[in-house]
Amino acid sequence: MQLLVILVAYLLGNFSASYIIGKLTANIDIRNYGSGNAGTTNVMRTLGYKAAVITLIIDCLKGVLAVYIARRLGTENLALVAGVAVVLGHNWPILLGFKGGKGIATTIGVGLAIHTSAALICIVIGIIILILFKYVSLAAIIAITLLPIILAFEGRNYFLFGLILCALAIYRHRENIQRLRNGTERKITEKLKVK
Ligand code: G3P
Repeated sequence: MQLLVILVAYLLGNFSASYIIGKLTANIDIRNYGSGNAGTTNVMRTLGYKAAVITLIIDCLKGVLAVYIARRLGTENLALVAGVAVVLGHNWPILLGFKGGKGIATTIGVGLAIHTSAALICIVIGIIILILFKYVSLAAIIAITLLPIILAFEGRNYFLFGLILCALAIYRHRENIQRLRNGTERKITEKLKVK
């Protein structure tokens, strides 16, 4: 049963809102545009803010749902594993040739479902960084780095959960980090309309 829950979480992660919205609204593969990432920020620059908000909500909700299912059918530790699995499914979706997103929206959903107050602190800090510097990637990296630090006060399993999500996010943002260092990272204000 536990393996099934983890598999369902991974497959839920495969449900890529940005990919589906790109196909439905503009008949494009979002991964061929902008940063090439299947995620909210790239939808924003490519398809506009309304599509981005829908992407954010759906990718966030699948994180919440994966944790909810695991909690209903198992333990809190299973919920932590399912939270990691849904982000893995979003980042490396088998149904989309393992080319997915960077997992931030899904991590927000997972974080809110696992530990709401810790996630809210990270989100608020992330929003402040975003307003100040206009780089979503920078905001995401700083916010996610805070997660394991805050969760360390909740015990080893929560800390490990936060650490894995943080490591996954930083790994997926390595090209963004390079661009931030070069001064070539795209700001949230950059547009690349395809429709
Ligand atoms: O969560 C993704 C965001 O931090 C960066 O997206 O498209 O600019 O690589 P992107």
